[in-house]
Amino acid sequence: MDAPLYLRPRVEPPLAALLADGPFLHSLADALGSPLNVLLPEAVAANAARFRAVYRRHRLTGRVYFAHKANRSSALLRRLAAEDPAAVGVDVASTEELRHALGCGFTGDRIMATGPKDAAFLWLAARVGATVNLDSPGELERLSALVRAHGLGRVAVLVRLSGFEHTTGNGGAGTRLLSRRSRFGTPVRDMEELLSALEHNADTLEFAGAAYHLDTTGVEEKARALEQCVLFMDECRARGLAPHALDIGGGFGVGYVAEAEDWERWTTALTEAVLGVRPPMTWRGHGYGLRNEGGTVRGATALYPAYRPTAGPGYLDEILSLPAPVLGRPAATLLLEHLHDLYIEPGRSLVDQCGLSLARVLDVRPADTDAGHHLVHLAMNAGDMSLEEHGVLVDPVLLPRDEAAAGDGEAVGVYLTGNLCLEGDLITRRLVFLPRLPQAGDLLAFANTAGYAMDFRAHHAQRQPVARTVAVERRGDTWRWCPDEDYWPITPLGGAVG
Ligand SMILES: Cc1ncc(COP(=O)(O)O)c(C=O)c1O
Repeated sequence: MDAPLYLRPRVEPPLAALLADGPFLHSLADALGSPLNVLLPEAVAANAARFRAVYRRHRLTGRVYFAHKANRSSALLRRLAAEDPAAVGVDVASTEELRHALGCGFTGDRIMATGPKDAAFLWLAARVGATVNLDSPGELERLSALVRAHGLGRVAVLVRLSGFEHTTGNGGAGTRLLSRRSRFGTPVRDMEELLSALEHNADTLEFAGAAYHLDTTGVEEKARALEQCVLFMDECRARGLAPHALDIGGGFGVGYVAEAEDWERWTTALTEAVLGVRPPMTWRGHGYGLRNEGGTVRGATALYPAYRPTAGPGYLDEILSLPAPVLGRPAATLLLEHLHDLYIEPGRSLVDQCGLSLARVLDVRPADTDAGHHLVHLAMNAGDMSLEEHGVLVDPVLLPRDEAAAGDGEAVGVYLTGNLCLEGDLITRRLVFLPRLPQAGDLLAFANTAGYAMDFRAHHAQRQPVARTVAVERRGDTWRWCPDEDYWPITPLGGAVG
């Protein structure tokens, strides 16, 4: 058999303790079925505290808005609602997310409405006093007309910018860099229209500041955009407007794989497999974006950088510490000098280490690959646990039903197949190495799925059940649990107020 290529997950307390308690996780899946999502609400509060510590280190004011889209859970939202109202808010991207946030205990002034918005979403956001992150001049006009027509109070708005340009070196005559293209936001070059619309609608809209969200891991690109927003806000102030907040969006990232070495070995092996110089390591030779053209590897891997030396709060710290390309001072200093509040909208990184997804093994049989590989058929489909769909590759953890009887075994390469009657329903198209061959009844635990992988793509195809979600908490030496919808941030978990 080929040497095992692992992508071992990064697990930290309390997720590590939860994963280590196989009997508890088996009892949950026995009672509630497979697939099953398990969340740790205390971990989301701890992550919010880590982001706040970065604000403190840089002496910055402003709020951390959780990007709700990353997870539908009520428990996570309610736990965050219990945090300091001045420090933690929520970013909602639909009418239903807004209703959910209100029902979980967020007051309107802690809510930011982002993304594409219809009239109902705009009306409810305006009605409850949320801040509206405006996508375009058209949206601005629609919101203003709505406020006027329904006699609503002035609405705080941010303007989302895109299409940042920056020239490097040569006294401004060097290379022109354009930020990542986005279908959201108003290009910086079209700002004049937006600013005059803000001036004309000052009776209905209160211009609170500028915003951006760049879908990139590039820290320099983000620091450049931040500086351009500061310069833009200077211009706004020069023409009599009074913006005070800069929203730098989300995208602080998560490290899924524990060891850099695992990631480097695996990605190198993928290139070799695409070239045909080592045996295939993916289902039917899938290349994750790479292809072999006459002995040369072409294309780019469509993969999330699953090993990240710096992510989450550390990555925010890095952006804030980086000298701004034009003004030369660190981004945090620019914000302080201008007395700007810093808003951030972390999704994935705020729910880092906040949960796992369980799948029951239904069947194990040899694969048709002649390489000693097996197919492991799970009571879960690719929509239930969509790490793969989001380009995140990381190993599951095997939880044998009977740990003592399972023995040591030998590492095996397996393909994880889903419960849909569909050739393409693979939990991952990658050969996964497990420490031993699983048996029917065992569980596979996918760690760190709370960000986008738990419920973002879950569906009812073939009337298969979608996962239930539970919240758990460690109390002394036992775990307490309750259904996600029954969780309130009151101790003891699932118990009476007391
Ligand atoms: C406007 C906006 N803010 C925040 C986020 C959250 O990004 P992440 O989960 O990468 O932190 C997104 C993600 O799509 C977004 O579109």
